[in-house]
Amino acid sequence: MIDPENTADRLLAALSDAAGAFVPGSRLGAVLGVSRTAVWKQVNVLKAQGYRIESRPRLGYCLTGRPDTISRRELAARLDTRWLGRNLIVLDETDSTNRYGMEEAWLPHGTVVVAGRQSAGRGRLGRTWETPPGTVPFSIVLCPESAPAQLQLITLATAVGMAEGIAEATDIAVSIKWPNDLLAGGKKIAGILTEARTDPDRVVRAVVGVGLNVATEENDFPDSVRPQATSLAAFSGKKTGPLPVLARVLGRLETVYDLVLAGGEKELSTMLSSYRKRCETIGLAVTVTDRDGRAHTGTATGVDDHGALLVKGKNGKTMPFYSGDVTLSKPGTEAGG
Ligand code: BTN
Repeated sequence: MIDPENTADRLLAALSDAAGAFVPGSRLGAVLGVSRTAVWKQVNVLKAQGYRIESRPRLGYCLTGRPDTISRRELAARLDTRWLGRNLIVLDETDSTNRYGMEEAWLPHGTVVVAGRQSAGRGRLGRTWETPPGTVPFSIVLCPESAPAQLQLITLATAVGMAEGIAEATDIAVSIKWPNDLLAGGKKIAGILTEARTDPDRVVRAVVGVGLNVATEENDFPDSVRPQATSLAAFSGKKTGPLPVLARVLGRLETVYDLVLAGGEKELSTMLSSYRKRCETIGLAVTVTDRDGRAHTGTATGVDDHGALLVKGKNGKTMPFYSGDVTLSKPGTEAGG
């Protein structure tokens, strides 16, 4: 995704190609078709963007470090996807990346919108979602041409792709609390909100938003969520930059979306079996609060092929839930315990 018209992009490519060696300013100028003074100016542009570039008299310039903050250029350079994130929008700030992905109707299928900050982030069940420093908010635009019922599977697939991508990038074992909270050591490291515009028989546009706590400091979470929230860096105690995690996560998300969007029985069952393996809600005594605020208590016995949580009540009847807020009836209790 290098813009051939952009001198800073081409300068960076020339310095990267030199793989740690110095390149004379005169040579860079010849390659880029600009003067040595113009090269020097562009070097300063790159430095201001967080690139470390050493300059030495007679030897020229050497790239010694890249920023580990999210920019379109740095994320694009790490992506190994075919279609997801090939259209990449990186904003310093927006109200909500989900709102942006939904309302900017020109954004095509597969667009990824990432923001540095959100001023009005949206959470599940009408809640607000704060994005303290270190939390990365992003949204994925999907125009899947499929039945609205598939939205539930898209949400579950997102949880699987996130869990797999995070585990690959960080070695952290990630579990899923149905439907789509991602947990590390029992605390939330990411939340997912799927919003959609639908016709009666098809999804016109789905926007899947993720708030991923990469390097959020525990003290920076709002009081209301602090006890249950953590970040990859806080949990692991290791410095964790957003770029490798986000790139890996998007790679895994493309794989799971391919499975769901293919719509075949075999592909769906592959995705669902990955989901069930990671879903720590299954087997526990739970209370599900439905959209109308009614609480249903029972044992979570599984997740069906449509993505519903199956809860067996005291009366022995099993009910499917497609949405709702799940709390453990008695934290840490196994079913029947
Ligand atoms: C939850 O309640 O757990 C879901 C939170 C989803 C938050 C993300 S941040 C990026 C995207 N934009 C939003 O406004 N919300 C989602």
